[in-house]
Amino acid sequence: MKILFIGDIVGSPGRRAVKELLPNLRQSHGLDVIIANGENSAGGNGITPDIAAELFSYGVDAITTGDHLWDQKEVMELLASEKRFLRPLNYPPGTPGQGSAIFEVKVGSSRCDDRTARRAVPTNLSVAVLNVQGRTFMPPLENPFLLALDEVKRLRQQTKIIFVDFHAEATSEKIAFARMLDGQVSAVVGTHTHVQTADEQIFPGGTAYWTDAGFTGPHESVLGREIEPVLKRFLTGMPQRFEVAKDRVLLHGAVIEIDDASGKAVKIQRVSESVA
Ligand SMILES: [Fe+2]
Ligand SMILES: [Fe+2]
Repeated sequence: MKILFIGDIVGSPGRRAVKELLPNLRQSHGLDVIIANGENSAGGNGITPDIAAELFSYGVDAITTGDHLWDQKEVMELLASEKRFLRPLNYPPGTPGQGSAIFEVKVGSSRCDDRTARRAVPTNLSVAVLNVQGRTFMPPLENPFLLALDEVKRLRQQTKIIFVDFHAEATSEKIAFARMLDGQVSAVVGTHTHVQTADEQIFPGGTAYWTDAGFTGPHESVLGREIEPVLKRFLTGMPQRFEVAKDRVLLHGAVIEIDDASGKAVKIQRVSESVA
């Protein structure tokens, strides 16, 4: 199975990048499933049902989120009823929504390389997606380590193919979390910092790991926002309006190839594609 994970989609430029670049990426990599972090997809702040529908219409199969989850009040509708929409698992008990989901994926249908010959008939496989949020330099939530261990154990009863978006700030927390799950999940990819790191790798147990997938949106910016207001806030300490920037729009993410039978990662490849 080949998964494309798309790093935090920021505003309309980020959504445009998904719309324009996904068809080619799907074709050239033979992608089977597309997972995207959508926490900044509504004008940089949160997500709404309309915007989630837009991302699904471009071919996104599942949307993960993070600390910007609550920025738009309409998100409550998604949390109540959208099975393809995830929020971090480690909110307190009683929080609406879900931290994980299992999807049926037709594997092999968009393959255009030599694998097609080996798998002439597309196969149905289950993939689990888990969304967890870190606690270091982040709002306090339940312990992500303890909850993820239990959740992964539960998910593995249904599938060995498990993708985890760990939305966190601190590199140590991200690496330790992924080391804990090495061999238990197919991949742990970090989001939230909006900066791609240079450490994509496969751990000894077979878990693909990458500290941060970066963000999908305008990179002539500070993490997707116009430069001037951010700079002004650092210079003056006064609050500013952070509008989404416009230029040098990139799609950031990772293509992860997973062995269908074992659920172990075979390859993780960094993606940084420019909108024409
Ligand atoms: Fe975030
Ligand atoms: Fe973000």
